[in-house]
Amino acid sequence: MAIAIMTSGGDCAGMNPAIKQFVDYCYSKNIQPYLIYDGLEGLIDNTIIKASYEDVAGIMHEGGTKIRSSRSKRFFELAYREQAYNNLQQHGIDKIVVLGGDGSFRAFNQFYNDFGINFVGIPSTIDNDIFGTDYCLGVDTALNMIRSATDAIRDTSASFKRACVIETMGRDCGYLALVTAITCGAEVCMIPELEYDLDKIAKRLKKELDNGRKYIVCVVSEGCKKNVCTSTQEIVNWLEKDLGIETRATILGHVQRGGNPTVFDRLMASEFTTYAVDYLLENEKSNTVIVYKNSQFEFVSIEYVNSGKYEIKKELLDLARRLVN
Ligand code: F6P
Repeated sequence: MAIAIMTSGGDCAGMNPAIKQFVDYCYSKNIQPYLIYDGLEGLIDNTIIKASYEDVAGIMHEGGTKIRSSRSKRFFELAYREQAYNNLQQHGIDKIVVLGGDGSFRAFNQFYNDFGINFVGIPSTIDNDIFGTDYCLGVDTALNMIRSATDAIRDTSASFKRACVIETMGRDCGYLALVTAITCGAEVCMIPELEYDLDKIAKRLKKELDNGRKYIVCVVSEGCKKNVCTSTQEIVNWLEKDLGIETRATILGHVQRGGNPTVFDRLMASEFTTYAVDYLLENEKSNTVIVYKNSQFEFVSIEYVNSGKYEIKKELLDLARRLVN
């Protein structure tokens, strides 16, 4: 039987290095690799091809995913999963490496339960919010994209003695904003995982401005709309009203999801993919996720990954506590 790779859900940098490693490694083991284009939608629509060296040449340094991705509603329906299964049968594929988030892994587990298609999931999302792993593929590149934007925004804020509010992605997880705030020297960090006292923050900032601070960098996670404000503009209004400082907002948006993968994400892509292929070749049955925990690669069950909610470690949160009041 043959083996395939697919990318599902939000794309991230590191997916292309993983695809290249997958194809080259499979050929080195004399196994025919397949590429499933367009994620779960492509599985249903049979956009599945035999991979060649040429398909993956020159993609190592590119962000996104060459085999594209999708978020599929159809895959929730058994009839479409059956169609996907028939497509795989036609190609002789019974093992798949799936790069995606926990939603994609859940979908694949259902597929495994229905038809016994083996898979290893590689946690891949800029949100870094998957339970059971300290790191998800793509987060390092996203953090570097955000760092570069934040450094540039700081230059102009400093020139005008302004405050800047920078909104990061991350869905309900504040990891991107937290690490950015710590590593870019922000004065305020707002994430769903921490409690806020805006009055206290305003008092502190006033004191700092009186004592010579000339500009303010405030990093806000998109997930904050649940615990701090309904919009990033509210933070702007608060800074302008309570502190009397001219303020501009930048919502970074999808720029954070693109960009050339960093060395770290490329290396992790290679390791994740190699171990995932080995696991699929060595184990008859697999509905498993490979995780990176305490600097070690481990294989855990999909049930385990679905059994909890990712939590940012306390030590990291502690580093930002002075920025929340
Ligand atoms: O999960 C990755 C992510 O980029 C989140 O950070 C963000 O909330 C969401 O996807 C955006 O989704 P879309 O690209 O569909 O707008």
